[in-house]
Amino acid sequence: MAPKHQAPRGTRDLLPADTALWRWAEERARGVLDRYGYGELRTPMFEDYELFARTAGESSDVVQKEMYRFQDLGERDLALRPEFTAGVMRAYLEHGLGGRARVHRLWSTGPVFRYGRPQKGRYRQFSQLNCELIGSPAPGADVEIVTLFVDLYEAWGFADLSVVINSVGQPATRRAYGERLRALFAPMRDKLSADSQARLETNPLRVLDTKDEGDLALIAAIRDEGRMPHLIDELDADDRAHWDAVLAGLDAAGIRYEIDHGLVRGLDYYTRTAFEVHDRSLGAQSALGGGGRYDGLIEMLGGSPTPGVGFAIGLDRALLVLEQRGAKADATTAVCLVAMDGTRAAATKLARDLRREFVVEIDVEGRGFGAQMKAAGKSGARFLVILGEEEWGRGEIALKDSKTGTQRTLAPGALADALRAGMRDEGDRS
Ligand code: HAM
Repeated sequence: MAPKHQAPRGTRDLLPADTALWRWAEERARGVLDRYGYGELRTPMFEDYELFARTAGESSDVVQKEMYRFQDLGERDLALRPEFTAGVMRAYLEHGLGGRARVHRLWSTGPVFRYGRPQKGRYRQFSQLNCELIGSPAPGADVEIVTLFVDLYEAWGFADLSVVINSVGQPATRRAYGERLRALFAPMRDKLSADSQARLETNPLRVLDTKDEGDLALIAAIRDEGRMPHLIDELDADDRAHWDAVLAGLDAAGIRYEIDHGLVRGLDYYTRTAFEVHDRSLGAQSALGGGGRYDGLIEMLGGSPTPGVGFAIGLDRALLVLEQRGAKADATTAVCLVAMDGTRAAATKLARDLRREFVVEIDVEGRGFGAQMKAAGKSGARFLVILGEEEWGRGEIALKDSKTGTQRTLAPGALADALRAGMRDEGDRS
């Protein structure tokens, strides 16, 4: 019988077997972020609805269909964050960070919320790892951000990654390009999906972002006929120079990329550089992460003109791919203590001492020696520390290395050193 309560549709529980891999991934990511000099920023999970509506764009899917909007008891119009960037910019302005230093490097992680149709790799609550480099208009900032993006995936073992990149220019460039798309699609309007027909009216660029098979075939045919205009051909001289410099910088950094003329991104605040990385094994929801430059965003929120560039990685999708590839976090139990009736009290104290440094498991149910030995064998612990009554009386304990199968006797005071040495050898071999 199904339990009475289930996690809300589009959300899920991560059990300890799942969180082990998440924690491993988060720790690896933190290492990379520290080495790049990014500082962690934590912002609230909800903000004024207006903040998200203005920044993501009124015609974006996020605002039109996906926002968790609610009124609190004080009748404030709020929304659960559908992304980090808007909240990060709000915090940047609220704390006057721009006045403290010219350039800020910030990262954040945590749950974000979008009311979409749940499917593989698409949830209503999911987690992002978000990075922003605020304050520099230089192409070098874009290059650093894309390089950091790739290095995070590489730290998780993605070796075969290819970033797709495009330039979306300025809002005026996009408007002109949008008009060209509108004219291009007008004669085949009826063949487009209802979604794309609506987008043709409100935001023609987003037609290129369609997931509809029929639309995709139509677009591919136009491309094959060489009739699809390219956004980068519409760029003004400054945007073009920026684009060329970003690509040259990525080449110099050894980053592999492909130019994707159809890449437009789903949020409206982007200017110039836009990029994503995909993994086909996820099916329709293939984007593992994406980002770009947003030079007008801070001004839109009432700040002085301040450029910025950043990205978010969808952690759920990245981890799904890692799991599909068989990644597993190592078992963490390192030491299992096994005691007899006469040594239980001593074992409890010894476990507490060892836990200052080691991962230790101990029986709490008063099970017999045999049952404890059996459980210790199953636990995957590298070392078994056995407190026999007679041995304890002589001032001795037994240390068994479950990997080599060897067992030796030693004084309790020598145990920590012996464990340390055993684990060091293990590290040398791996
Ligand atoms: P985004 O492309 O909307 O960008 O989201 C980034 C990533 O979040 C996606 O590539 C995907 O992996 C993941 N994602 C999005 N929706 C879902 C979902 N429903 N379920 C699971 N994963 C999902 C942004 O959010 C921008 N704020 C990125 C950025 C930062 N641009 C500049 N700075």
